[in-house]
Amino acid sequence: MTRRVEGKIALVTGGASRPGLGFAIAERLAEEGATVILSDIDADGCEESAALLSQRNLSAEAMRHDVSSQSDWRRVVGDILAKHSRLDILVNNAGILDVAEIDAEDALAGLRRQYKVNIEGVFMGTQEAVCVMRAAGTPGSIINLSSVAGIVGFRGSASYAATKGAVKMMTKSVALETAADSIRVNSVHPGIIRTNMAKAGLKDNADNYAAIEATIPVGRLGEPEDIANCVLFLASDEASYVTGAEFVVDGGYTAQ
Ligand SMILES: NC(=O)c1ccc[n+]([C@@H]2O[C@H](COP(=O)([O-])OP(=O)(O)OC[C@H]3O[C@@H](n4cnc5c(N)ncnc54)[C@H](O)[C@@H]3O)[C@@H](O)[C@H]2O)c1
Repeated sequence: MTRRVEGKIALVTGGASRPGLGFAIAERLAEEGATVILSDIDADGCEESAALLSQRNLSAEAMRHDVSSQSDWRRVVGDILAKHSRLDILVNNAGILDVAEIDAEDALAGLRRQYKVNIEGVFMGTQEAVCVMRAAGTPGSIINLSSVAGIVGFRGSASYAATKGAVKMMTKSVALETAADSIRVNSVHPGIIRTNMAKAGLKDNADNYAAIEATIPVGRLGEPEDIANCVLFLASDEASYVTGAEFVVDGGYTAQ
């Protein structure tokens, strides 16, 4: 049976964190036949992630990459083109979370930090990918990690939510510009998923986990694989009629 993304070249940003969504996404794409480039500002962690996949005979490479730097985007995408001649899939996954209520002294500084990574990073990555996908004239898929915080409110999340709402709307507008070129652009909205980001947000405290789980209809936090499977679908040709859409993967949280 043909694997679902056989032969495709995929860049997944933020691939160092384990447990992390970038690593889980890279793993699923590689299991289904893609060559995956994992990038991260944490170069050593990213090398380790790629090595873990390579040990399983999956096709994975690592690149140092600060997604808030335009010159880094140009270098990373340029190097991928030089080596693989194309880029079929971009997963804009790297992101940061700053928890602060609106009146906190450092709330504005936090917004600015997140703006650079969560918005400018996704924007520049999308620009680079659209340019190379258009030039290649082959179908492409761009998947942007937003959040349920881009759909409903959370206390302490005004700045993070602002960036994730921006990702959602940026995604839809770009999708309209690129639909005729067979470049699909979609956003994924995870609920609370068991990764290093969630651990930090919940202070890795059992009571905090239990309190959150009680609010989730399916009765558990999400696992990185839950998100990876959704991204895999969007990356594959099975989703050829899907663009400008928002995919909520939250165990029913926002259905309430
Ligand atoms: N885990 C969740 O509950 C959850 C929920 C909703 C949305 N998300 C989103 O999913 C994405 C991944 O989240 P995660 O839980 O795996 O986070 P994580 O913190 O576990 O991993 C994020 C990775 O991004 C990297 N990174 C940070 N800044 C970077 C930069 N400037 N350039 C390149 N890499 C950088 C980090 O080094 C890290 O490896 C993020 O965009 C996050 O906002 C996560």
